[in-house]
Order: sequence, then C-alpha cells, then structure tokens
Amino acid sequence: MTGLFKSKSKALIGVDVGSSFVKLVGLSKHSKGYKVESYASVHLPEGAVIDNNVQEVPVVAEAIEKAFRIAGGKSKNAVASVPTSVVISKDLEFSRSFTEDELEEQIKVEADQFIPYPLDEVAIDFQIKGPSKDDPELNDVLLVACRQDNVQSREDAVNGAGLQCDYIDVDTYALERVFPLLSDMHDLKDKTVGLIDIGASNMSLYVLEDGEVVYSREQVFGGNDLTHHLSQASDMSADEVERAKKTGELSEDLVRGYVDPFKQTTAQQISRSLQFYYSSGTHGELDMLLLAGGVAGLDNLDKTVEQELGIRAQIANPFANMQFNSKINRTKFDADAGALVLACGLALRTFSE
Ligand SMILES: Nc1ncnc2c1ncn2[C@@H]1O[C@H](COP(=O)(O)OP(=O)(O)OP(=O)(O)O)[C@@H](O)[C@H]1O
Ligand SMILES: [Mg+2]
Repeated sequence: MTGLFKSKSKALIGVDVGSSFVKLVGLSKHSKGYKVESYASVHLPEGAVIDNNVQEVPVVAEAIEKAFRIAGGKSKNAVASVPTSVVISKDLEFSRSFTEDELEEQIKVEADQFIPYPLDEVAIDFQIKGPSKDDPELNDVLLVACRQDNVQSREDAVNGAGLQCDYIDVDTYALERVFPLLSDMHDLKDKTVGLIDIGASNMSLYVLEDGEVVYSREQVFGGNDLTHHLSQASDMSADEVERAKKTGELSEDLVRGYVDPFKQTTAQQISRSLQFYYSSGTHGELDMLLLAGGVAGLDNLDKTVEQELGIRAQIANPFANMQFNSKINRTKFDADAGALVLACGLALRTFSE
C-alpha cells in the first residue's frame, strides 16, 4: 500500500500539478504561525495534462524543475496530489482485534467488491479513524483508492524534476488542511461552506461541514475560455494573455468586452454547480462561498458572485496572516494567492500528525 496518510517531519514542498500551471509552495512554522518560505507558478504547455491525466511526464517534470529553481527552496522532499474526481473513497468498519496484516487482507477483499478495475491496477490506502460509534468492537476505517497510473505519473513527474516525492495526497484532504486557516479568518465555525476552485479547465465545488468535505463535484469550466477569447480578440499569444491577466495589463476595451462578461459567466457556472448540490439533497444550505484557483484572481470576482447569487462570497486567502520570506515579491505573490491554495494545503502536510 502507498502510505497515503503517514507523515514524516521533513519540510515538504506542496506540488500542485494543474492542467495549465504547476504551483509550488514551501512553508515553515514558528511561534507566530506559518511562514511562506518559497513558491512558484510555472505555465505548462498545452497537452501536457489533459482531463486530469498527466499525459507527458517529462514535460511536467521540466516545469516542476523550473518551478523549484524559481522557488529556491531548501528541502527536496515533496508531496503532490491526485484530483478528488479520480478517487474512490469508502467508509468501512472492521474488527478492532485485527492485526495490521489481517486488516490489509480484509481491505483488499472489500475493495475488490466496489472498485471497478482489476486490483493490480489500483493504488489503495486506508486510515483507521477510531472506534465506531455504533459498536465499540469495531473501528471506522476510511479506504481510498485510485488507478495506479494516476498516482505513478504524478510521482514520476515530481521525481523526474529531481525532487523526492514522499506522498501522493488527494485534493480533498489538502483543502481540508487549509480550511482551519480560512475558517478562523472568516469566522466559519459551525458553518456550511462552499469552497470553489476554478482553474484553467476545471471548476470544483467542495462543501465543508465541521471542517470536513461532505460533498464534491467537478465540472468542465475555467479560465481557458477567457484566455482563448482574449487572444483571438487581440494580437497577443496565449502566453502573453496569461501574463497580462495576472498583471492586470489588459486594455479597457478587452476588460469591458471579455473579462466582465466572463465574470458573469463564472457566477452562472457557480450557480449551476450549487443547483446540483442542492438537488442532491444531502446537506444543508451554504452560509458562505470561498473562491480559490487562478480565476479567483479576477478583480472583484467575489463581489460579482455575491451580487448575482445573493450569498456571502470572498476570495480564499490562507496566507493573509502568514509571514513571508524576504525574497518573496508580495505583489506578485498576492496576484497568485488564489491559485496557490491547493499547494498550500499540500505543504501543510509537513505539520500534520
Ligand atoms: N490574476 C488572475 N486573473 C484572472 N485569471 C487568472 C489570474 N491568475 C490566473 N488566472 C487564470 O487562472 C487559470 C489558472 O488557474 P490555476 O493555476 O488554478 O489552474 P490549473 O490548476 O492549472 O487548472 P485546473 O485546476 O483546471 O486543472 C488560467 O486560466 C489563468 O489564466
Ligand atoms: Mg487546479
């Protein structure tokens, strides 16, 4: 089994491999809280990651290597993740008297029942959550599984960059780790919160209750649409558009003609995603939305969403109360903060357990 949940005390660089950017974050912990020691965001060539699959391992490895050079961190130990949508997880109960070997054996038997792939193509891990509420003779066990090639290609890309990939995590757990930082900031204790990650090609809604993800859903939508429209409407290449989006160097005409309508479309897509959530009927009304991912960097997107949907919305910024290594350019960092949320949650793994 892959050791998904175990942790060592070495500083881990969080490596978020998205469909269009690789993001790295390195953190340290002090008496006053966390400090961002290093970070970088590097654009990936089109086709390197498609539909959540790393298609071109050497190309992704090269981008991670470049990001590591830019970030200039010390530790080479790293943690990357697989998207929630490629993972199957299940809550199970097993006798507390099982030895570790017996438990592994039983878990394989159970896994074979509900995993739709041959077990030798699957990476499986589990975490013992503690005694079951209903029967103290049993332990609650969380089982997590995904196709081995999803894990392997990410691990190969990180190792191919000259780093050492200690763990492959799951996006869900990384975001759960970030959530307490956001919850303190926005006073979200006991609230039901929708965390929305809008990247280049995917938008994911995570609903959290008591800090745990109770619902997640991914849909195809992201900043690529805006990038394509902007590069068609101007004489800029896609790379130039990417830079201009981050620095805000777009003409007023382009902002009025494309960026503003895109913000409206984004609000509509979020609304659609919430409709799916509410029609699932599983959990309560959302008290607040937090926006993450690169698209959250759009000027005042939170205000547009608030106006259109009539629900409190803010940009998720887990870094707001952190200290920063003096080599970090804060203006550049702040423009990327939304996109770095997941990498932050991965880096936080250094301090868990
Ligand atoms: N400040 C900004 N303003 C507007 N758009 C931005 C900004 N920064 C990044 N973006 C856009 O956000 C997208 C990249 O976000 P992110 O890095 O979260 O995506 P990704 O993780 O690579 O993609 P995905 O999660 O869909 O696989 C790009 O479309 C980029 O143009
Ligand atoms: Mg992403």
